Amino acid sequence: MLSAAKFSVGSKCSIRTLTSIATSEPSAPSVSTPIPGPKSKALKDDMAKVHQNPSVKFFIDYEKSFGNYLVDADGNKVLDTFMQISSIPLGYNHPELVALAKDPRLITAAVSRPALGAWPRTDFASLLRNSLIEVMPKGMSGVQTMLCGTSANENAIKAAFIRYQTLKRGGKPPTPADLESCMKHQLPGTPRLSVLGFQGSFHGRSLTMLTCTRSKPIHKVDIPAFDWPIANFPRYKYPLEKHGAHNKQEDEKCLKEVRSIIESRKKEERDVAAVIVEPVQSEGGDYHASPEFFKGLQKICKENDVAFIVDEVQTGGGASGTFWAFEQWNLPTPPDMVTFSKKLLTGGYYYTEDFRVREGYRIFNTWMGEPTKLVILEKVIEIIKRDNLVEKTRQVGEQLKKELSRLETVYPKNILNVRGLGTLAAFDMHDTQSRDKLIDVALSKGLHIGGCGDFTVRFRPALTYAKKHLEVTLDLLEKSVKSVV
Ligand SMILES: Cc1ncc(COP(=O)(O)O)c(C=O)c1O
Repeated sequence: MLSAAKFSVGSKCSIRTLTSIATSEPSAPSVSTPIPGPKSKALKDDMAKVHQNPSVKFFIDYEKSFGNYLVDADGNKVLDTFMQISSIPLGYNHPELVALAKDPRLITAAVSRPALGAWPRTDFASLLRNSLIEVMPKGMSGVQTMLCGTSANENAIKAAFIRYQTLKRGGKPPTPADLESCMKHQLPGTPRLSVLGFQGSFHGRSLTMLTCTRSKPIHKVDIPAFDWPIANFPRYKYPLEKHGAHNKQEDEKCLKEVRSIIESRKKEERDVAAVIVEPVQSEGGDYHASPEFFKGLQKICKENDVAFIVDEVQTGGGASGTFWAFEQWNLPTPPDMVTFSKKLLTGGYYYTEDFRVREGYRIFNTWMGEPTKLVILEKVIEIIKRDNLVEKTRQVGEQLKKELSRLETVYPKNILNVRGLGTLAAFDMHDTQSRDKLIDVALSKGLHIGGCGDFTVRFRPALTYAKKHLEVTLDLLEKSVKSVV
């Protein structure tokens, strides 16, 4: 442990001094209480007095956690292959990021947070160039920062609607009739446009994004929804090499459905203005689709002037083995917009020139992003490049998939449909009960894995996840599978 920060953090009832932040990773997990343990349970009860808490699993001591290991409130050391739902790029307390805490840019951005849309920092454009623009997909024009993945998607969709209507008006701004009618939610100012999403997708939980999200009923129940269409996303059989014909048929069937929805909506004057799709349907159950499917989807969008929005909130930032998962599709042109958050630390979306919104206050809110995140991201990207972490992730991901496939042959009744892209690896179990039990047993042995969909186990480690972590993962996973059987 190292004395890393001299400032105090205070609250009304307790003042404590941050004296030490962990500087090395445990060599192996060690667990001495159930998880959640007594301290986590007491903290959860205390939290209930001031904040809703039903989704809280256990509490983490973020000062003691390091690299790929979290340390929970009870002192248990756990290998974390889930990393705050796929969102910490370099693991806990990377020393170069901890050292950044002293950077005056970080301090002033944290203490004097700007309303970015109106009064950005003098270094805002240069911060963007060194961070988000540094990893901007080829062929895109610029970036719009936002707060989180959901707000990135919402605003990308707004940009798609604005562009669709602008095209209809021959490139002209809204007319007085548009401006007057929109205040009454009437045509022509409030158009009957829609967004096509996919069964099993997850794009966020805000009122609008819930319409596109179709992963779990509990997210949607009781909430009104837009009348927007939904298409089927391919459901493949595994291993892929044995089921080529079935999987190709799935692609074709789903693409045909997308085309037919877009055409019929147009006839009904309820045009689809955008299609939003994840490279891997992560929350919904880690469902993959082929590059051919995505190429076909983009083609249909282009033919119908529909915006093709790729939601890389969970897949972006290198975990797929390329910085952006869609780079593996070999598209003839980039998507119209690519949304991100999680490993990119700030939410936002990249746009191609046609989707730049030219009038102020149409894509806007008070904060519109977070400059502290850009200061950190600048360093994160420097480290990812310097340490060749995307390629290393591709390699360790291959190994992870290979080893999971080996376990699938040993435990064919418990591990099914192994799949993966980089370290975004997953397998299915037979039912929710055994999946949930496996996750609990693994945690009790010091391995944190994630669940998704109804019966899927998923891995979402940091980009610093390496062979030594893989070995621990496989050892504890196999022991857990054996004890669940
Ligand atoms: C693909 C995808 N899109 C959007 C979101 C929503 O992002 P956020 O939770 O940052 O709002 C998520 C979150 O898990 C996601 O996985």
